Amino acid sequence: MDEKRRQLLAGISLAGAGVLINACRTTSNRTGSATNEDNKNDGPAPGEVASVEVTATEDLMREHGILRRALLVYQESAVRLRQDASSVPLDALEKTANLFRVFGEDYHEKKLEEVYIFPVLRRSPGAPASYIDVLLAQHTRGREITDYVLSVTSADRIPSSNVEPLANALESFVRMYGHHAAIEDTIIFPAWKAATGQAELDELAARFEEIETEQFGADGFNTALKRMEEIETSLGLSNLDMFTAPAPPTK
Ligand SMILES: [Fe+2]
Ligand SMILES: [Fe+2]
Repeated sequence: MDEKRRQLLAGISLAGAGVLINACRTTSNRTGSATNEDNKNDGPAPGEVASVEVTATEDLMREHGILRRALLVYQESAVRLRQDASSVPLDALEKTANLFRVFGEDYHEKKLEEVYIFPVLRRSPGAPASYIDVLLAQHTRGREITDYVLSVTSADRIPSSNVEPLANALESFVRMYGHHAAIEDTIIFPAWKAATGQAELDELAARFEEIETEQFGADGFNTALKRMEEIETSLGLSNLDMFTAPAPPTK
C-alpha cells in the first residue's frame, strides 16, 4: 500500500471496518461470485452503511457527492478563516485536501474520467467534446490548488499573511469544481452513457469496481464516505439542519 492510500485509509474508525466488510460483500455480488446463501445475510448490521449496487454513471455521480462534501468543508473553512483563523483546525483541512487528492484527483479524475469518459466524447460528434479541454484544464488547476492547500496546512499554524490567500484559493476551488461536477453530471456523463452500449456499460461498472479495489484495497466509496463523515464531525459540520436556510423576509 503506497503512502497516498495509507493517508486515505488512516484514521478509519472501528465502525469503518464494518463498512469495509459490507462493501467487500457488495463487490462480490456485483461480480457474480456471491452465492444465494451469502445474499441472504446481506442486510447491514447496526452501525453499518447499507450498500447498494450502482451503474457506472451512478458510481461517478456519487463520487461527486463525496467531493461536494469536501467542497462544503472548504467553503465553511474559508468563512471561518476570515473570521478567526485560529478557529480552523489545520489537520482537518489537510485531511480534506488529502481525501480530494487520493479519491478525487488520483482515482475519480485520473483513473476513470481521463481514461474511460473523456476519450469517448472526444471521438463523438456534438457539443460535449468542446468541454473536454476545459475540464482537463480544471483537473490540472485543481491539483495545483490541492498542492497549495496541502503545503499551507502542513504547518502548525497559518501565518496571518497566508490567511486571505488560503481563503481565496479554497473559495475559487469550490466555485470551479462545483460548476465542473455539475457539467459532468448533466452533460458529460449522460453523453458518455448515450455513446456507450448497455453491455459495455455493465462491463465498465464492474471494471470501475475493480479499479477501486486496486486503488484502495476495498470499497473506495464507503472508505471515503466514512473519512468525510469523520472530518465533518471534527469540524462541527455533521448536522444537516444547521444548513437549513433562514426564512425569507416578509413583504
Ligand atoms: Fe472531472
Ligand atoms: Fe468528475
